[in-house]
Amino acid sequence: MLGERPRTRGVAAPCRALLLLQGLLLLRAPAGLLGDQTRRVSLEVIPGPTDPAQNLLHIRAVGASSTIHYVWSSLGPPGVLFVTTDTPHSVLSVNWSGLLSPEPEGSLAVLPAESVRFSSALFFPRLFEFDSTKSSETKDGSPGKPYPPYLLASFSWDDVNSTLDHTMLSATFQGRPLKDPSGAFNNGSLAFKVRAFSGPGRPAHLPRLLHTADTSQLELVLSGIVPQGNHSLFGLEVATPALDSECPQLKEQESIDDEYCPSVFQLDQLLWRSPPEGFLQWRPVAFSQKQPTWKTVLPCRVSPPRLTLATLFPQSPIVRAFFGPSVNFSVFNLTFGDSTGLAYEDQHYLSW
Ligand SMILES: *[C@@H]1O[C@H](CO)[C@@H](O)[C@H](O)[C@H]1NC(C)=O
Ligand SMILES: *[C@@H]1O[C@H](CO)[C@@H](O)[C@H](O)[C@H]1NC(C)=O
Ligand SMILES: *[C@@H]1O[C@H](CO)[C@@H](O)[C@H](O)[C@H]1NC(C)=O
Ligand SMILES: *[C@@H]1O[C@H](CO)[C@@H](O)[C@H](O)[C@H]1NC(C)=O
Repeated sequence: MLGERPRTRGVAAPCRALLLLQGLLLLRAPAGLLGDQTRRVSLEVIPGPTDPAQNLLHIRAVGASSTIHYVWSSLGPPGVLFVTTDTPHSVLSVNWSGLLSPEPEGSLAVLPAESVRFSSALFFPRLFEFDSTKSSETKDGSPGKPYPPYLLASFSWDDVNSTLDHTMLSATFQGRPLKDPSGAFNNGSLAFKVRAFSGPGRPAHLPRLLHTADTSQLELVLSGIVPQGNHSLFGLEVATPALDSECPQLKEQESIDDEYCPSVFQLDQLLWRSPPEGFLQWRPVAFSQKQPTWKTVLPCRVSPPRLTLATLFPQSPIVRAFFGPSVNFSVFNLTFGDSTGLAYEDQHYLSW
């Protein structure tokens, strides 16, 4: 639910786009372990054997008796593997020749294996673009007619090493399609901005979700691309392994009107297990300008998750390396904006 949304459309701006989106991935320390209120959080890039763009970003949050690992990667579709262990001494082990091979299973592990208490992953196979000019006629809530999607496994990503900031605990995967015949990304990019935190707090800018040293934050920024239509909406496909046929649950939770994010009465969450051992949470809003304000807010909708067979879906090397080839996926779409409000072409910016 959103507060009042501006309905004015921008005027004759050059046709390029911007989108901002922000989610927070939170892992709980393994149940029953106490004393891990403080963690030592560090970021490292694990370089691949040859290509500087082929590497892994490893966030390690070490407490007195547990460790949380986040492994972000742009091999194949961009994504993150997350693992909690009940020891402060667990390590990530990578066999690069295995990971880059067509059969990567077993090439990524957190050791000792018996210390692992919880593990899952999220990845982002496709960026959608919809023509929303006719969607108000369909009235089924669909964002409009889809243009051919951008496959994020076919993007080329800049070297994440050059964006690593040990003080901010942040790094950015920025990419564009390898083949871009229409030149839509000539002056634009899609960026996954990843951040960890040394302690609890809230960012200065909206939507100001509460973070802790256990969390990893993802901000998605689609900036400067040329949309294919006059009122394009964008969407992102999100997939997570459905392990032991147990799917994480999507919960749209009514929240109180808090001082940090006034007039947004909803918090969307993807919960793994009950009580949740991990969750992804976000406010159902995106922003159409670099400085997120209520004037630039776009609604962010989520589709019901759908179980999808492994064989019908693009594979993520890190997911396959850790969980094996036969896991199925729970898949949902996030879409940003609607047919009547601001469109991407107004500012050429979108963030979540
Ligand atoms: C790494 O993976 C390759 C290819 O799958 C395999 O041949 C090799 O034995 C593995 N190395 C180790 C140390 O496990
Ligand atoms: C590319 O984008 C930047 C920033 O928005 C802008 O200053 C520049 O003029 C653009 N260049 C072209 C060729 O459109
Ligand atoms: C966009 O709008 C312009 C002017 O209203 C129109 O001439 C053009 O055909 C439209 N383009 C598309 C792809 O709908
Ligand atoms: C996501 O959107 C695409 C494009 O409209 C559609 O093909 C796909 O079925 C949607 N996925 C889900 C899980 O709803």
